[in-house]
Amino acid sequence: MTQPTLFTFIFFLTNLLVSGKQIPTTLQGPFHPITIHFDPSLRRGSDDIPMDDPRLKNNVTSMFPEQIALALSTPTSMWVSWVTGDAQIGPNVTALDPTSVASEVWYGKESGNYSSKKRGNATFYSQLYPFEGLFNYTSVIIHHVRIDVIRIDVIV
Ligand SMILES: *[C@@H]1O[C@H](CO)[C@@H](O)[C@H](O)[C@H]1NC(C)=O
Ligand SMILES: *[C@@H]1O[C@H](CO)[C@@H](O)[C@H](O)[C@H]1NC(C)=O
Ligand SMILES: *[C@@H]1O[C@H](CO)[C@@H](O)[C@H](O)[C@H]1NC(C)=O
Ligand SMILES: *[C@@H]1O[C@H](CO)[C@@H](O)[C@H](O)[C@H]1NC(C)=O
Ligand SMILES: *[C@@H]1O[C@H](CO)[C@@H](O)[C@H](O)[C@H]1NC(C)=O
Repeated sequence: MTQPTLFTFIFFLTNLLVSGKQIPTTLQGPFHPITIHFDPSLRRGSDDIPMDDPRLKNNVTSMFPEQIALALSTPTSMWVSWVTGDAQIGPNVTALDPTSVASEVWYGKESGNYSSKKRGNATFYSQLYPFEGLFNYTSVIIHHVRIDVIRIDVIV
Protein backbone atom coordinates (compact mmCIF):
# COMPACT_ATOMS: atom_id res chain seq x y z
CA MET A 1 0.00 0.00 0.00
CA THR A 2 1.59 3.25 -1.05
CA GLN A 3 1.23 6.56 0.71
CA PRO A 4 -1.68 8.63 -0.64
CA THR A 5 -0.92 12.06 -1.99
CA LEU A 6 -2.80 14.87 -0.31
CA PHE A 7 -3.67 17.97 -2.25
CA THR A 8 -4.84 21.03 -0.42
CA PHE A 9 -5.95 24.20 -2.14
CA ILE A 10 -5.31 27.73 -1.09
CA PHE A 11 -8.95 28.69 -1.05
CA PHE A 12 -10.44 30.13 2.08
CA LEU A 13 -14.17 29.66 2.36
CA THR A 14 -16.08 32.32 4.21
CA ASN A 15 -17.65 31.18 7.46
CA LEU A 16 -21.17 32.45 7.82
CA LEU A 17 -21.26 32.98 11.56
CA VAL A 18 -24.04 35.29 12.60
CA SER A 19 -25.49 35.56 16.11
CA GLY A 20 -24.60 32.01 17.03
CA LYS A 21 -26.58 30.45 14.15
CA GLN A 22 -24.23 28.91 11.71
CA ILE A 23 -24.78 27.50 8.25
CA PRO A 24 -22.24 24.62 8.12
CA THR A 25 -19.77 24.49 5.29
CA THR A 26 -18.63 21.35 3.50
CA LEU A 27 -15.32 21.76 5.33
CA GLN A 28 -17.13 20.70 8.53
CA GLY A 29 -18.49 17.54 6.92
CA PRO A 30 -18.98 14.83 5.99
CA PHE A 31 -22.40 14.83 7.65
CA HIS A 32 -24.71 11.92 8.33
CA PRO A 33 -27.82 12.14 6.13
CA ILE A 34 -30.96 13.20 7.99
CA THR A 35 -34.38 11.74 7.19
CA ILE A 36 -37.22 14.24 7.69
CA HIS A 37 -40.60 12.76 8.61
CA PHE A 38 -43.44 13.15 6.13
CA ASP A 39 -45.45 16.27 6.91
CA PRO A 40 -49.16 15.20 6.88
CA SER A 41 -50.35 18.83 6.85
CA LEU A 42 -49.23 18.96 3.19
CA ARG A 43 -47.76 22.41 3.79
CA ARG A 44 -46.59 23.78 0.48
CA GLY A 45 -43.12 25.17 -0.01
CA SER A 46 -40.56 25.62 2.73
CA ASP A 47 -39.46 28.34 5.08
CA ASP A 48 -36.83 30.09 3.03
CA ILE A 49 -34.18 32.27 4.66
CA PRO A 50 -35.08 35.83 3.58
CA MET A 51 -32.73 37.25 0.98
CA ASP A 52 -31.79 40.10 3.34
CA ASP A 53 -30.73 37.71 6.13
CA PRO A 54 -27.19 38.63 7.29
CA ARG A 55 -26.16 35.02 6.73
CA LEU A 56 -26.89 35.35 3.01
CA LYS A 57 -25.09 38.67 2.66
CA ASN A 58 -22.24 38.60 0.18
CA ASN A 59 -19.34 39.06 2.57
CA VAL A 60 -16.44 39.02 0.13
CA THR A 61 -14.65 41.52 -2.01
CA SER A 62 -15.91 41.21 -5.58
CA MET A 63 -12.97 39.17 -6.88
CA PHE A 64 -12.97 36.56 -4.12
CA PRO A 65 -13.23 32.95 -5.46
CA GLU A 66 -16.69 31.45 -4.96
CA GLN A 67 -18.53 28.30 -6.12
CA ILE A 68 -15.32 26.27 -6.10
CA ALA A 69 -15.66 22.87 -7.79
CA LEU A 70 -13.13 20.06 -8.14
CA ALA A 71 -13.57 17.42 -10.83
CA LEU A 72 -11.29 14.41 -11.22
CA SER A 73 -10.50 14.13 -14.89
CA THR A 74 -8.02 11.27 -15.23
CA PRO A 75 -5.93 9.40 -12.63
CA THR A 76 -3.32 12.14 -13.09
CA SER A 77 -5.36 15.29 -13.65
CA MET A 78 -8.11 17.36 -12.15
CA TRP A 79 -10.11 20.43 -13.15
CA VAL A 80 -10.51 23.21 -10.60
CA SER A 81 -13.34 25.62 -11.42
CA TRP A 82 -14.61 28.71 -9.60
CA VAL A 83 -16.23 32.06 -10.26
CA THR A 84 -15.40 35.65 -9.37
CA GLY A 85 -17.38 38.86 -9.54
CA ASP A 86 -21.13 39.43 -9.59
CA ALA A 87 -23.60 38.55 -12.32
CA GLN A 88 -25.84 41.38 -13.51
CA ILE A 89 -29.43 41.31 -14.64
CA GLY A 90 -31.52 44.19 -15.95
CA PRO A 91 -31.81 46.66 -18.80
CA ASN A 92 -28.22 47.87 -18.73
CA VAL A 93 -25.66 45.14 -18.04
CA THR A 94 -21.93 45.50 -18.62
CA ALA A 95 -19.97 42.28 -19.19
CA LEU A 96 -17.10 41.65 -16.77
CA ASP A 97 -13.59 41.40 -18.22
CA PRO A 98 -12.31 37.82 -17.74
CA THR A 99 -8.71 39.03 -18.15
CA SER A 100 -9.10 41.39 -15.18
CA VAL A 101 -8.44 38.62 -12.65
CA ALA A 102 -5.92 35.77 -12.77
CA SER A 103 -7.06 32.15 -13.26
CA GLU A 104 -4.42 30.64 -11.03
CA VAL A 105 -4.39 27.72 -8.59
CA TRP A 106 -1.64 27.22 -6.03
CA TYR A 107 -1.38 23.69 -4.68
CA GLY A 108 0.92 21.28 -2.88
CA LYS A 109 1.20 17.93 -1.18
CA GLU A 110 0.58 19.21 2.33
CA SER A 111 -1.60 21.86 3.89
CA GLY A 112 0.11 25.25 3.96
CA ASN A 113 2.83 24.40 1.44
CA TYR A 114 1.48 25.42 -1.95
CA SER A 115 4.68 25.28 -3.96
CA SER A 116 3.06 24.45 -7.31
CA LYS A 117 1.16 26.93 -9.43
CA LYS A 118 -0.98 26.44 -12.53
CA ARG A 119 -2.74 28.97 -14.75
CA GLY A 120 -5.88 28.37 -16.79
CA ASN A 121 -8.69 30.15 -18.54
CA ALA A 122 -11.54 32.45 -17.71
CA THR A 123 -14.74 33.07 -19.60
CA PHE A 124 -18.22 34.58 -19.21
CA TYR A 125 -21.50 34.55 -21.09
CA SER A 126 -24.27 37.01 -21.75
CA GLN A 127 -27.91 36.65 -22.71
CA LEU A 128 -28.88 39.88 -24.49
CA TYR A 129 -32.40 40.23 -25.86
CA PRO A 130 -32.94 42.76 -28.66
CA PHE A 131 -36.56 43.42 -27.69
CA GLU A 132 -38.43 44.86 -24.70
CA GLY A 133 -39.92 42.83 -21.88
CA LEU A 134 -37.02 40.53 -21.00
CA PHE A 135 -34.07 41.22 -18.77
CA ASN A 136 -30.56 41.09 -20.17
CA TYR A 137 -28.07 39.00 -18.22
CA THR A 138 -24.30 38.82 -18.03
CA SER A 139 -22.55 36.20 -15.95
CA VAL A 140 -19.85 36.03 -13.34
CA ILE A 141 -16.32 35.29 -14.54
CA ILE A 142 -15.93 31.50 -14.75
CA HIS A 143 -12.44 30.10 -14.25
CA HIS A 144 -11.10 26.67 -15.22
CA VAL A 145 -7.62 25.34 -14.42
CA ARG A 146 -6.41 21.84 -15.21
CA ILE A 147 -3.82 20.43 -12.83
CA ASP A 148 -1.62 17.58 -14.05
CA VAL A 149 0.36 15.61 -11.49
CA ILE A 150 2.06 12.26 -11.12
CA ARG A 151 -0.81 10.88 -9.02
CA ILE A 152 -4.08 12.07 -7.58
CA ASP A 153 -5.08 9.66 -4.84
CA VAL A 154 -6.84 11.64 -2.16
CA ILE A 155 -8.32 15.11 -2.47
CA VAL A 156 -8.82 17.18 0.66
C1 LIG B 1 -17.37 39.06 7.03
O1 LIG B 1 -16.97 37.84 7.63
C2 LIG B 1 -15.91 37.98 8.54
C3 LIG B 1 -15.50 36.59 8.98
O2 LIG B 1 -16.62 35.79 9.26
C4 LIG B 1 -16.34 38.88 9.69
O3 LIG B 1 -15.26 39.05 10.57
C5 LIG B 1 -16.76 40.23 9.14
O4 LIG B 1 -17.26 41.05 10.17
C6 LIG B 1 -17.82 40.07 8.07
N1 LIG B 1 -18.08 41.36 7.45
C7 LIG B 1 -19.32 41.79 7.16
C8 LIG B 1 -19.39 43.11 6.49
O5 LIG B 1 -20.30 41.13 7.43
C1 LIG C 1 -30.14 44.04 -24.09
O1 LIG C 1 -28.89 44.39 -24.62
C2 LIG C 1 -28.94 44.69 -26.00
C3 LIG C 1 -27.51 44.90 -26.49
O2 LIG C 1 -26.83 45.80 -25.65
C4 LIG C 1 -29.80 45.93 -26.21
O3 LIG C 1 -29.86 46.25 -27.57
C5 LIG C 1 -31.20 45.63 -25.68
O4 LIG C 1 -31.99 46.80 -25.76
C6 LIG C 1 -31.16 45.14 -24.25
N1 LIG C 1 -32.46 44.62 -23.94
C7 LIG C 1 -33.09 44.91 -22.83
C8 LIG C 1 -34.44 44.30 -22.66
O5 LIG C 1 -32.64 45.66 -22.00
C1 LIG D 1 -26.39 52.40 -19.03
O1 LIG D 1 -25.07 52.47 -18.47
C2 LIG D 1 -24.31 53.53 -19.07
C3 LIG D 1 -22.90 53.40 -18.49
O2 LIG D 1 -22.91 53.10 -17.15
C4 LIG D 1 -24.96 54.86 -18.74
O3 LIG D 1 -24.20 55.90 -19.34
C5 LIG D 1 -26.38 54.87 -19.29
O4 LIG D 1 -27.04 56.06 -18.93
C6 LIG D 1 -27.17 53.69 -18.79
N1 LIG D 1 -28.46 53.63 -19.45
C7 LIG D 1 -29.59 53.34 -18.80
C8 LIG D 1 -30.82 53.28 -19.62
O5 LIG D 1 -29.62 53.13 -17.60
C1 LIG E 1 7.02 22.21 0.11
O1 LIG E 1 6.72 21.28 -0.91
C2 LIG E 1 7.78 21.14 -1.85
C3 LIG E 1 7.29 20.25 -2.97
O2 LIG E 1 6.54 19.17 -2.51
C4 LIG E 1 9.02 20.56 -1.14
O3 LIG E 1 10.06 20.46 -2.05
C5 LIG E 1 9.41 21.51 -0.02
O4 LIG E 1 10.47 20.96 0.72
C6 LIG E 1 8.23 21.76 0.91
N1 LIG E 1 8.58 22.81 1.86
C7 LIG E 1 8.35 22.70 3.16
C8 LIG E 1 8.74 23.88 4.00
O5 LIG E 1 7.84 21.71 3.66
C1 LIG F 1 -6.74 28.32 -22.16
O1 LIG F 1 -5.66 27.79 -21.41
C2 LIG F 1 -4.80 26.96 -22.18
C3 LIG F 1 -3.74 26.45 -21.22
O2 LIG F 1 -4.34 25.75 -20.15
C4 LIG F 1 -4.18 27.75 -23.31
O3 LIG F 1 -3.40 26.90 -24.11
C5 LIG F 1 -5.29 28.36 -24.17
O4 LIG F 1 -4.73 29.20 -25.13
C6 LIG F 1 -6.24 29.17 -23.29
N1 LIG F 1 -7.34 29.64 -24.11
C7 LIG F 1 -7.76 30.88 -24.07
C8 LIG F 1 -8.94 31.18 -24.92
O5 LIG F 1 -7.24 31.72 -23.36
